Amino acid sequence: MPNEKTLILVKPDGVQRGLIGDVIGRLEKTGLKIIGIKFIQISEELAGKHYAEHKDKPFFSGLVKFITSSPVVALVLEGNNAISITRKTMGATNPVDSPPGTIRGDFAIDLGRNIIHGSANDDDAKREVDLFFDKNELCQYSKSNDAWVTE
Ligand code: RTP
Ligand code: MG
Repeated sequence: MPNEKTLILVKPDGVQRGLIGDVIGRLEKTGLKIIGIKFIQISEELAGKHYAEHKDKPFFSGLVKFITSSPVVALVLEGNNAISITRKTMGATNPVDSPPGTIRGDFAIDLGRNIIHGSANDDDAKREVDLFFDKNELCQYSKSNDAWVTE
């Protein structure tokens, strides 16, 4: 889809392990544009909303405990096919299945410590961007190399 937005989190393990720069660097280098960024401590309430689809799963309480255990970096990336491009750059949910060259494949070994979240589809992306960012926290701007990134 043209000019999609997606919500990315550098999860608590990525922050604690000093991987913020590596993760954001890889995403930036795809050519997607950062239009929002913040460093926040996720509350239990926000975690419950963000992970609502998993609320009946056995791993839900552990997931909420983990995502609220340390600050995260939240980003909104924008560009053509932003959701599928970032999911590809992230790798599979389980690092065991993530090839080298992906964020999870290179930096993670455990399903519950997989460094990064990225919206899975357009409906989730819209909901998640609204959960984490006010409209006035997102910047629409052009970059001098836009024409070198998108035809
Ligand atoms: P995320 O939402 O964090 O980007 O990850 P995802 O879409 O690739 O995976 P999802 O199915 O949405 O699951 C959310 C996070 O929950 C943890 N998980 N644990 N123990 C388990 O079976 C299990 N399944 C998922 C993972 O950390 C996953 O990223
Ligand atoms: Mg997910």
